[in-house]
Amino acid sequence: MRHLTQIRWRLACGLVAAAICAAPTLAEDTPLSKRIKDCAPCHGPDGNSRTATIPSLAGQPKFFILDQLIFIREGVRPVEAMAPFVKTLKEDEIVALAEHYAALPPKSSDENVDPALVVRGAALALRLRCASCHLPSLVGQEQIPRLAKQRIDYMNEVMKAYRDGRRKGGDSIMAATVFGISDADILALAHYAASR
Ligand code: HEC
Ligand code: HEC
Repeated sequence: MRHLTQIRWRLACGLVAAAICAAPTLAEDTPLSKRIKDCAPCHGPDGNSRTATIPSLAGQPKFFILDQLIFIREGVRPVEAMAPFVKTLKEDEIVALAEHYAALPPKSSDENVDPALVVRGAALALRLRCASCHLPSLVGQEQIPRLAKQRIDYMNEVMKAYRDGRRKGGDSIMAATVFGISDADILALAHYAASR
C-alpha cells in the first residue's frame, strides 16, 4: 500500500517541477512514530501493557510521563531495560511522547481482579487517603500517576519498592504513604486501584 502510494505520488510529481514537489512524509516515517515503535514491544502498541510488571502508559497524565522520562533518561530513576531507548531522546521528543500516551484510552489489564481484594483495598485506600493525590477516580493529575486500570503486578511491585526504600528516584511521599503496611495490604490496594 505504502509503496503504491509513493509511486503514484512520484508519477503525479513528474507533472510539476521537482523542486517544489517533495514526497509527503507518511505517518509511519515520522521521528515520533519511530520512537513509539521502540516502546511498543514493552508498553503495548496502544500504550496498554500486556507484559508482567511493565506499566501501561495510556491515559497517564502528560506531566507524569514527561517527568519520569527525564528521570529515566538521566538515570535518576534507573530502568536498565529502557536505557538504550531513552538515552538519545531530546526534550521535544519527550514532550511529544508524553502527549501521545496521555491521549490514548486506558484499557483494563488482562490480569484477574479478585473482588474480595478489591473490597479490602477500597477500605485501605479510604483510610490512607490515596484519592487526595491520585483523585477519587484514581486517574491521577499533573505529576501524580493514574492508578486506575494500571497493571496489578506492576503496582504491587512498585508499592513494595517504595515501602522498602528500593525505588530510586521516587517521590518520598509514596514511601511515607505505604510505610509499614503488609504485603497483603499492598496487594489488596493494587487490585482495588486496577479495578477503577
Ligand atoms: C525493554 C522494555 C522497555 C522498553 C523498550 C521501554 N520501556 Fe518504559 N519501562 C519499562 C519498565 C520495565 C518500566 C518500569 C520500571 C520499574 O519497575 O520502575 C518502564 C517504565 C516507564 C515509564 C514510567 C511509567 C510509570 O508508571 O512509572 C515511562 C513513562 C516509560 N517507561 C516510557 C517509555 C517510553 C516512552 C518508551 C519508548 C521510548 C519506553 N518506555 C520503552 C520497560 C520498557
Ligand atoms: C500525598 C500524595 C499521595 C498519596 C496520599 C498517595 N500517592 Fe501514590 N503517588 C504519589 C506521587 C507523587 C507518585 C509518583 C511518585 C514518583 O515520582 O515516584 C505516586 C506513585 C504511586 C504509584 C506508582 C505508579 C506508577 O505508575 O509508577 C502507585 C502504585 C501509587 N502511587 C499508589 C498509591 C496508593 C495505593 C495510595 C494510597 C494507599 C497512594 N498512592 C497515595 C502521590 C501520592
